[in-house]
Amino acid sequence: MEWPKQMMLLICLLSVWMCSAIPLPQYPYKEKYFDQSIDHFNLESYGQRTYRQRYFVTDDYWKKGGPVFFYTGNEGPIEAFFNNTGYVFDIAPEFGALIIFAEHRYYGKSLPLGNQSFTPSNLGLLTIEQALADYATLITSLREDLGIPDSPVVVFGGSYGGMLSAYMRMKYPHLVLGALAASAPVYSTANQSSQTYFFETVTQDFHDVDARCPDIVRAAFTKLNQLAAQGTSGLKEISTTFKLCKTLGSMAEYYHLLGWIRNSFTYQAMLDYPYAASFMGNLPANPVNVSCHMLVDASSPLEGLAMSSGLYYNSSNPPLKCFDIFAEFIQCADPTGCGLGTDSTAWDYQACTEITLPAGSNGITDMFPNMPFTPDMRTSYCQATYNVTPRPEWLKIQGFGRGLASSSNIIFSNGLLDPWRLGGVTEDLSESIVAIPVPGGAHHLDLRGSNPKDPESVVKARNKEKSIIKGWIDDWNQRKDKTA
Ligand SMILES: *[C@@H]1O[C@H](CO)[C@@H](O)[C@H](O)[C@H]1NC(C)=O
Ligand SMILES: *[C@@H]1O[C@H](CO)[C@@H](O)[C@H](O)[C@H]1NC(C)=O
Ligand SMILES: *[C@@H]1O[C@H](CO)[C@@H](O)[C@H](O)[C@H]1NC(C)=O
Ligand SMILES: *[C@@H]1O[C@H](CO)[C@@H](O)[C@H](O)[C@H]1NC(C)=O
Ligand SMILES: *[C@@H]1O[C@H](CO)[C@@H](O)[C@H](O)[C@H]1NC(C)=O
Repeated sequence: MEWPKQMMLLICLLSVWMCSAIPLPQYPYKEKYFDQSIDHFNLESYGQRTYRQRYFVTDDYWKKGGPVFFYTGNEGPIEAFFNNTGYVFDIAPEFGALIIFAEHRYYGKSLPLGNQSFTPSNLGLLTIEQALADYATLITSLREDLGIPDSPVVVFGGSYGGMLSAYMRMKYPHLVLGALAASAPVYSTANQSSQTYFFETVTQDFHDVDARCPDIVRAAFTKLNQLAAQGTSGLKEISTTFKLCKTLGSMAEYYHLLGWIRNSFTYQAMLDYPYAASFMGNLPANPVNVSCHMLVDASSPLEGLAMSSGLYYNSSNPPLKCFDIFAEFIQCADPTGCGLGTDSTAWDYQACTEITLPAGSNGITDMFPNMPFTPDMRTSYCQATYNVTPRPEWLKIQGFGRGLASSSNIIFSNGLLDPWRLGGVTEDLSESIVAIPVPGGAHHLDLRGSNPKDPESVVKARNKEKSIIKGWIDDWNQRKDKTA
């Protein structure tokens, strides 16, 4: 039986924890695979072989002459984005759109060289330009196969997927009519903005709930450092307080705990949605609020920090007895986290090559410990791990740097709660490159399906996005009529 959406929400309101156990509304889809070039640019390297790139198709809303809505998959299995991008399904019926969700190479089931994909020499196929070429090839081929070679294509994406949406419009404007790039940090990833903004915004989000929260967090980290400085007995006390499965045995392990704690706050701020959600983990509604109140209500800052950090990791069913910080968090070239499994290797490699991620925390402009990640530290890490040297200049060149206005038809939306916001485009750059702010919204809230708990701001933002997209399609149809 399929649960009606309203009924599920009612249950969610009654019990936050039950909610994560209840499946999200499932949109219909067919899983398909496309024989995709392993290497679009060097015909010698892999003998012009192909791999199976996965994508989902939803044609339930499709009407003849309707557009294609194409999600440019990001750093994870495509189901994760399919499940959390309800906006596309909400508006598709009105447009009579065909929906495609394409999986990014090296993630999920789209592995160019199967279980050999992650060897050092094969990782070289993991680049933004290969991923964009995959999407351009897939769009071209699907349109031909479906007999709609001229239908307009609008691309959608959130976060890194939003960057890819913008790049698709910039690089393949003959294939892509326009892009909705939600929460896309196109400037900071190309080293075109401050790199300290991320943890500053996380701190601000906690401050905005209760000005005491960042102070409590700072006090707790100070206490942690004092305990760690005591050696074995202090590390033992920390391990007990944080309910760790294994007692911390060294300062390196202690440092890992600090990363694990910071990572929990990162996700709470990114996923600060007004209702419980299962996206990159499970969190209750308004997690920053919940976490901040845990800090304020606890018997000591340290107890509060232990509880609020656990909020992100102890949210699966059944609840955890203790925390295995090495299984739950991987330190990598992205101070905001790389995820787990082979996805984390792939993202780590991207962070070591083309994509510059925010600097670490400094404890001055943010509430976290001083855990720097300087360009030099990144370089040594990447050389030691993958034998590559990051080239931050390249995304500046291929991603248009600060010259995005030379493109057109891109919407850059950003939630004002989102720690990524200041890495992206927050002001209109031209008549058709527009910024849509979403007050009260976290990481690409606008891409999520409509929900009774949505703030008015996101309803407005979605309507504005829809009318801009409609404008692109109407223009395109008029031009087509003239040339026919
Ligand atoms: C997507 O949602 C479906 C149905 O709720 C669920 O079975 C599946 O595990 C979800 N996948 C991911 C990756 O979240
Ligand atoms: C890797 O994939 C190949 C081909 O699909 C398979 O024969 C082999 O058993 C796999 N190896 C491992 C370690 O999974
Ligand atoms: C924040 O948390 C407090 C205490 O838990 C609660 O009373 C309040 O309703 C919450 N606010 C929001 C917006 O969730
Ligand atoms: C996880 O949450 C459950 C239920 O709230 C709680 O009983 C348990 O102690 C928590 N586990 C840890 C390791 O904090
Ligand atoms: C970013 O650019 C600044 C100078 O504009 C430079 O000092 C810094 O090393 C660059 N960051 C990275 C990660 O390369």
